[in-house]
Amino acid sequence: MQVLVASNRGPVSFGRAEDGTLTMRRGGGGLVSGLASVAAGTDLLWVCAALSDADRTAARQDPEGRLDKAGHDTGAVRMLDIPEQTFHRAYNSIANSTLWFVHHLLYATPTAPHFDATFRRDWQAYSAYNAAFAGALGQDAEPGAKVVVQDYHLSLVPGMLREARPDLRIAHFSHTPWAPPAYFRLLPDDIGIAILEGMLGADHLGFLCERWAEAFLACCDEILGARIDPVAGTVTYRGRTTRVGVHALGVDGPELRERAGQADVAERIAGLREQVGDRQLILRIDRTELSKNIVRGLAAYWELLLNHPEWRGRVVHLAFAYPSRTDLPEYRAYTAAVERLAAEINDEFGTEDWTPLILQVKDDYARSLAAYQLADVLVVNPIRDGMNLVAKEGPVLSEKGCALVLSREAGAAAELSDDALVVNPFDVSQTAETLNQALLLSGDDRRNRTKRLADAATALPPGRWFAEQLAALD
Ligand code: G6P
Repeated sequence: MQVLVASNRGPVSFGRAEDGTLTMRRGGGGLVSGLASVAAGTDLLWVCAALSDADRTAARQDPEGRLDKAGHDTGAVRMLDIPEQTFHRAYNSIANSTLWFVHHLLYATPTAPHFDATFRRDWQAYSAYNAAFAGALGQDAEPGAKVVVQDYHLSLVPGMLREARPDLRIAHFSHTPWAPPAYFRLLPDDIGIAILEGMLGADHLGFLCERWAEAFLACCDEILGARIDPVAGTVTYRGRTTRVGVHALGVDGPELRERAGQADVAERIAGLREQVGDRQLILRIDRTELSKNIVRGLAAYWELLLNHPEWRGRVVHLAFAYPSRTDLPEYRAYTAAVERLAAEINDEFGTEDWTPLILQVKDDYARSLAAYQLADVLVVNPIRDGMNLVAKEGPVLSEKGCALVLSREAGAAAELSDDALVVNPFDVSQTAETLNQALLLSGDDRRNRTKRLADAATALPPGRWFAEQLAALD
């Protein structure tokens, strides 16, 4: 059986060494590990976009963009050399500045969004970029193949592919939330319709939790007037029926523990132990991402230190905020705001022998794995999040038990809220008081909760998550 996967970001990326030669880096993440365990005997092709100049150079080494055929040890990967300007408009303007904002409810609506002629031009690019994916998939798919399309970058692909290749079995998976109809309607009417119709080209649509699946069904009902069967989880529109399913992506416990046991992680554990000493460790790990709510999270830490002076000198907050989407001005401003607030906290409360907050912005996966093992409290407070795998990785790696402070707006809350301390992400004062509660939980309580959280977090590891979606296409 042939399976094709399509995603904007592929499993590898290229850079340049000082002498100008290409260097290759493998990405991590759920999708990569999910695919690694796809049954042997499956003929798998991954189609992705070139994201940088170095990627485009690598993609051009083979006439079909096949990295493996150009001699790279990637497995079967076709990297699409989409013209830079088209890619930039599709990825930065539409996918990340519009669709991401809509699904995560991120607009400050008095000033944004603002759908004008520039937006229309960018939408054309998004359509062209989706068409490039649909074209490549249509070209490479054998009759009856299964195609699994990932995320909001590619919401038009199912419809385009269905039209060109009605023989294919098509799935789409959303790693983000889905906006409720009242917010989805911010989009220009024709574009909202095009996105829903594009998605409905699939046979099966996957979401991370019930809430996001229900929001999608509600959009189809209210905006398209499609026939919804909420019990069966189906949408019938223009004579075709699409199934909607929930696949709550979890983590692969044994694989994660194995990685976290390696020498580079052990080295960082030693370094962190030195920094933290015998103080309690409050940890957060995010991309520097607007939806992750880092600023309110740091503000809550400030309020904790203000209202509970007994913790001064007895806790350290380690905040890892790795760079993300730095082409967007909103993200650069957000990073600056995070850095500013972190400095203010240290100015206000720091003493000669105590730094209350350590902010790290350089990406270091091994250091994250080390910090998970040591944390006493893990803060995951997104404004809204498809799932949030940090909330799942933390409990799996915790050594002595870790209290999880979790936003009710994260998809992970659907599975973890019984044993997490749940907060409204907009309520800074409540978050501060919840941090206090978390610090006060007894060791036994933390251990018991962490054990149950880890069980829930590993219920559907990436390999089975992917296999479920393939099975849904039979
Ligand atoms: C989210 C999206 C992914 C995306 C990731 C990183 O998890 O669902 O599709 O790859 O963010 O964002 P980036 O823009 O760096 O790919």
